[in-house]
Amino acid sequence: MKLILRYIIIGFLIFIYNFQFGYSLQFKMSGTSTTNSNQYSQNIQELKLQWDSSKVIDKTQFSKSDNPGLSLSNNDQTVTREERFRGDDFPPIRILSKSGLTDCGIQGNISMDWSVRVDESHGFLEVGLYNTKSNQCYLYKSSGSQVQFENIQQDESSLDYQTSDFGEAFSNGDYITTRVEFIFPSAHSDQNIPYLNIHYLKNGRYLGSPFQQISPIYNFYPMVGLNDNGDQVTLIFNP
Ligand SMILES: *[C@@H]1O[C@H](CO)[C@@H](O)[C@H](O)[C@H]1NC(C)=O
Repeated sequence: MKLILRYIIIGFLIFIYNFQFGYSLQFKMSGTSTTNSNQYSQNIQELKLQWDSSKVIDKTQFSKSDNPGLSLSNNDQTVTREERFRGDDFPPIRILSKSGLTDCGIQGNISMDWSVRVDESHGFLEVGLYNTKSNQCYLYKSSGSQVQFENIQQDESSLDYQTSDFGEAFSNGDYITTRVEFIFPSAHSDQNIPYLNIHYLKNGRYLGSPFQQISPIYNFYPMVGLNDNGDQVTLIFNP
């Protein structure tokens, strides 16, 4: 009798565990608040972003011009490159989102997704993260529709940029999701400073994680870089 009771209790506990597990798998947050979870991969927060015209990084030779070289539309969710003069096209002008990844505070393992649709690209579109304190930049760059360039990843955390092949080309109509995974190692592990890993998806399909174990984790902003006149990307939600 006692044994049967024990099986019933164990069965009940397994049921409760599965219920929570199954539920959290489908759990997808929107908005900008954060939650805790023991299993980061089930805890993906979708960021609702806007571009910030006061956060433009312009290293072109015309950066002193009154014209910013980019314009925002569609409730600041679409950014379009506008060349100011002939030949005003390198390096890409970068723009950051209004809010940073950790602006709302962060605690515990969590992944954050943000996605851009490529409306128009001529070959030098960058999708990445920029650290406003350290000026570190991590990005994924791809060939456009007209000219074939390489698709690469670029790590600008040191003076010599680290560049290597990554993923696949993307162009007009594709959407790219950047997933930033924050990891807070448990207190008793060897390495217990928080770090982040960056993953990319193309049209919802996982491509890989070119940047890993980045720390410190603060002051990172979603970023795009647009090089050529007419290059345009739009932030999208729940793609
Ligand atoms: C967060 O993830 C790390 C790495 O997988 C793990 O060691 C740690 O225990 C996790 N933290 C929690 C609270 O689950």
